Amino acid sequence: MSIVAHSYSLETFFDDCRASLLADAGPDGQSAVRRHLLQLLRHPKLIHAFLGPAPGRRTLHHEPSTGMHVFVHVYDAAGVSKPHDHGPCWIVYGNLTGHTDMIDYQRRDDGSQPGYADLAATREYRVKAGEAELFGVGAIHETAHPAEPSILIRVVSDDMDSVWRHTFNPAKKTVTDRPPRPEKD
Ligand SMILES: [Fe+2]
Repeated sequence: MSIVAHSYSLETFFDDCRASLLADAGPDGQSAVRRHLLQLLRHPKLIHAFLGPAPGRRTLHHEPSTGMHVFVHVYDAAGVSKPHDHGPCWIVYGNLTGHTDMIDYQRRDDGSQPGYADLAATREYRVKAGEAELFGVGAIHETAHPAEPSILIRVVSDDMDSVWRHTFNPAKKTVTDRPPRPEKD
């Protein structure tokens, strides 16, 4: 463990993300946020800050100048999401402990037929503790976390609770509008 990793803090992470996104809110800035999160995930004391009373989602930070939100999710039971997008948002998922199994999808139709979506799974992989993945605007994926306790940190470009999103059923080739509401994935 390097001295830099030991000294990295949540506050420094928020500052670094803000600076990167103000410099470039596009894919380069988003990739920088992922790199900052990777550095944060190496912070050994961070785990203790999240060993709280109950599992669930907590907002760690909201950055008014960029819209960025940072959440921590503490899981103590297995869970799986349906394939979904994140509306107009990009998002970075990083595991502090445990792991998240991901499946990425690509849409094969042109989106012109209401309610219809033809998805192809393009990548299946595991995000392990200390790893993070960026999902750009329009990315479609599903997630699953195991029964073992796990802690996930999510960085979202904006307030995803207030935007319309989509949920997909690849077997039935359907897409459903998902209205704004508190989201869990
Ligand atoms: Fe997601």
